[in-house]
Amino acid sequence: MSETQAVSALRDPTFRGKFVCDALVWPSISLHILKKLTGKETGDGARHVYRPADVRKLKLAQYENEESSVNRKPPPVVNCRMAKGGTGKTTVAANLGTAFSFMGYKTLMIDADPQASLTNMMGIDASSEDITHIGHLMEQFVGNKGHVDVASAVRNVFSEGMLDIIPADITLTNADGWLMNQMQRETVFDRLLVSNKDFFEQYDVIVVDSAPGTSLLSMNIMVATRTQLAVCWLDRENLKALPILLGNVDEINAAYPNHASDVEIVANGYSAIYKQSKEALEVLVAKYPHQLNENVIQQFSGFHRQQALPGGECKGAVVEQDQSSPGAKAMLDLAKSLLGRYKITLAGFDESIPSTRGN
Ligand SMILES: Nc1ncnc2c1ncn2[C@@H]1O[C@H](COP(=O)(O)OP(=O)(O)OP(=O)(O)O)[C@@H](O)[C@H]1O
Ligand SMILES: [Mg+2]
Repeated sequence: MSETQAVSALRDPTFRGKFVCDALVWPSISLHILKKLTGKETGDGARHVYRPADVRKLKLAQYENEESSVNRKPPPVVNCRMAKGGTGKTTVAANLGTAFSFMGYKTLMIDADPQASLTNMMGIDASSEDITHIGHLMEQFVGNKGHVDVASAVRNVFSEGMLDIIPADITLTNADGWLMNQMQRETVFDRLLVSNKDFFEQYDVIVVDSAPGTSLLSMNIMVATRTQLAVCWLDRENLKALPILLGNVDEINAAYPNHASDVEIVANGYSAIYKQSKEALEVLVAKYPHQLNENVIQQFSGFHRQQALPGGECKGAVVEQDQSSPGAKAMLDLAKSLLGRYKITLAGFDESIPSTRGN
């Protein structure tokens, strides 16, 4: 890693070899092989640490591949979405983005919510810093007939491009007013991705944190997404909100048959002591057996501590901060389950664990 890369990134997280073996690498690998593959052999008494880029190099070595021979393809978009507010969209987006990066996948996060919660959680102060957000890029795309300087908007969260973000700030609220006057207004984001595929294809996956409610911006993200990740807090209100999202997907599929999109549901905030939580999960299992992800995220107090107020210090998601916590484990398991669902590949290799779900 060069000095410049280390300095330009917000953080440079590390983890122990055992964490790589237990939690991250699939298929499984022994500590001995890990040390051999990464050149961090035992014998010198040093306690070695690993970075997301080490995991990537390790996997490429495991598959006898090189970065330069990676077969690039448009990265799948994981759009964390729900019409209702406060369901855990930002929590899931931040932890999934971090988990994919820790697993060696180059990950781009896009904050598509003017409240900028994801931006702040990643350690960027949306209230005082100069931000180029996705709304600005969409305007550039239309104004410059396709050419967009996407790189100028991107901030490096982890070094070596393992986790980047296109941040947001409150001025992203203007995007809807501007979109209203555009031709083909629901497909601007999708066309931006396609026209700048050389840039976006450097990533293995894109994770979007969407705003609650239904707006032209949120529809733009949905049109560009093949599988919406519906983050559903386990209560009655969310059971009412879910059909709104499913209805939006039906509308998109009717209007744009080539974009055929579906929904993967993540049940969030389960607690066995709350009757409503258990009942809501039972309804999801009964009504959406083919769309419900097998991983249910429990209520975990650590998720509160990852929040940052504008201007406040924040050190990232639970997966980064509290690697051995139950919350981190649940998010890592969710990320692993999504590799196959979203066809997220590394160097052309499909590392996904076969789904246990019968669909
Ligand atoms: N599994 C969980 N256990 C405990 N707390 C959680 C969990 N998931 C989310 N939270 C908490 O719930 C609150 C709302 O979460 P979050 O901000 O991720 O929701 P959101 O859907 O992004 O909200 P908004 O619609 O406002 O963008 C936060 O305080 C967060 O820490
Ligand atoms: Mg949010």
